[in-house]
Amino acid sequence: MSLTRQDRLQALGLWPIWRLRTATPVEPELAVEHPLAESSAALTAASNMPAAVIEEARLRVETEVAAPLRPALERPPASVGSDAIETMDWAALNAAIRDCRRCELAKTRTQAVPGVGDIHAEWLFVGEAPGANEDRQGEPFVGDAGQLLDAMMAAIGLARGRNVFIANVLKSRPPGNRDPKPEEVATCMPYLERQIELIQPKLIVALGRFAAQNLLATDTPIGKLRGQVHRYRGVPLVVTYHPAYLLRNPLDKAKVWEDLVLARRTMNELKQ
Ligand code: URA
Repeated sequence: MSLTRQDRLQALGLWPIWRLRTATPVEPELAVEHPLAESSAALTAASNMPAAVIEEARLRVETEVAAPLRPALERPPASVGSDAIETMDWAALNAAIRDCRRCELAKTRTQAVPGVGDIHAEWLFVGEAPGANEDRQGEPFVGDAGQLLDAMMAAIGLARGRNVFIANVLKSRPPGNRDPKPEEVATCMPYLERQIELIQPKLIVALGRFAAQNLLATDTPIGKLRGQVHRYRGVPLVVTYHPAYLLRNPLDKAKVWEDLVLARRTMNELKQ
């Protein structure tokens, strides 16, 4: 039996998750409904977005954006330095990430995971590090947390690869999904910094404590970082809980919904 994305989220008790009261979630005026309420008359375009639409967007990105970057265009030396990363174009940057040997994680990973999506995206979602599924498939957020991230994005009218880029702080999987070490972050961060420079997103959504604290260079707890618009090098940044955390703590859906609404409202204001 082949399960749809909705089937799997339902099995996890996470579908439907959030609904916008308006039929067009991308409209500037967001009418917010409590995420746990079941009384909404209209399921929105976001929560109804067919899996096929998301899949089509994913395929488009895979063929039009990711695949052309994959061939060995320019293979930089394995010990590429941070200075070199600062001036790389997309092709060189992706090749450098895939070949990276700058830390010990290169020895245990299956493959590096540079990121996926529209390289001119207005939205950038940043997670922590690849897990087992991502390490196997070479794409960020493809496991259960990834399905939840897709649902989170759909709730505010976004779909993977459509005006969205998804990346992680670390490009290689820490073995056993252990926490990244500070030296690994320091070594890997130049890749994300360069990705952000190249993408020039209008808004960054930091998924979880780890992404938030590293992008904002702070050790403030995530609970205090939520609920406001920060800046990363001038780019507005909204913090929310990591989807993997949310899978374990579904009662925090309401907080994540608030964060997503803040992100959507901020983007709408930026575009006025
Ligand atoms: N968790 C992350 O932070 N990133 C992924 O790509 C997958 C799970």
